[in-house]
Amino acid sequence: MKALVLAGGTGSRLRPFSHSTPKQLVPVANKPVLFHGLEAIRAAGITDVGIIVNSASAAIRTAVGDGSALGVDVTYLPQDEPRGLAHCVMIARDYLGDDDFLMYLGDNVFADGITEPVAQFQAERPAAQLAVVKVADPSEYGVAELDPSGRVVALEEKPARPRSNYAVTGAYFFSPQIHEAVQGIRPSWRNELEITDALQWLVDQEQEVRAYVCTGYWKDTGNVTDLLDCNRALLEKTTSGVRGSVDPLSQIGASVVVEAGATVTASRIDGPAVIGSGTSIKNSYIGPYTAIGSGCRVENSAVEDSILLDRASIQGVRSINGSLIGRECDVSQARQELRVHRLIMGDDSHVEVPA
Ligand code: TTP
Repeated sequence: MKALVLAGGTGSRLRPFSHSTPKQLVPVANKPVLFHGLEAIRAAGITDVGIIVNSASAAIRTAVGDGSALGVDVTYLPQDEPRGLAHCVMIARDYLGDDDFLMYLGDNVFADGITEPVAQFQAERPAAQLAVVKVADPSEYGVAELDPSGRVVALEEKPARPRSNYAVTGAYFFSPQIHEAVQGIRPSWRNELEITDALQWLVDQEQEVRAYVCTGYWKDTGNVTDLLDCNRALLEKTTSGVRGSVDPLSQIGASVVVEAGATVTASRIDGPAVIGSGTSIKNSYIGPYTAIGSGCRVENSAVEDSILLDRASIQGVRSINGSLIGRECDVSQARQELRVHRLIMGDDSHVEVPA
């Protein structure tokens, strides 16, 4: 069995980060989203991985390389434009050959991995299998209607009146029958070849499409709110480890990782939290659910429930919460006499300030 990992796309919901970094490389719990996925794929026993990339592929190629560091063997498959998930299957046709494969959306995270749905697919071997989750309001998702045996009887994309609570996640399991299905569909109103349409095509042909109901945490990290939510969920699994240097004036709570080369001085860190290598925390409070990357500097500040990317700096700001701060960004206190907010922001940035 192979894996086809989709790491192209537009990433419009994750601007401004996606202007400079593919969204699949934004870190949650200090590890790129894509790496969480590749590790889950490897843990499920799949080592042949084709990765769909777009024109911003250089960053992904640099980060993932040939995959050997993650225990997988990667082949890059360029996509000229984001023409839809089913288009990705089409352009991977030669790579996939007649093998079964897992199609995995590179911005998705399954906290408990995907080993169980892979095993179910391999045991039952239907034409296709979807990983679904039960959600309260599925109207923002693809929705699968199931019969009592777990067979998919219909699929709908973002329905106003959903006919079930099963949202389709970003892990699909395919036999080679999917290749005929993707040839049998036409582009949708948004001019994309939709995988939902290919699956519905299989259902209409009375091929067996089954569902695996995931009960563990799953998230599509396509926007900032969901990235922060995912960061919280993965940090919950953190086990303490202090390998950096912490001075006697500092207090380190439970579930805190201080990576080697980080320094914590006169500060308090309440976990779950992770502090990256080469980062300096001085006279500050780091609250729960904070992931701070490498080479960052936090001084005289308080930060919680946030993600800082590498080399970000925060100085003299005591109220940072629910924030995603990009690489080399700099947040500091305005000069006292100014009594203003001075903002130097890139395109599509978003800032909230007190009234
Ligand atoms: P989406 O998040 O659905 O699409 P997007 O990346 O265009 O995001 P946005 O809506 O914010 O603009 O894509 C899911 C995953 O599939 C993501 O990792 C990107 C990838 N993808 C491709 O590789 N090729 C494609 O043609 C599309 C549509 C998505």
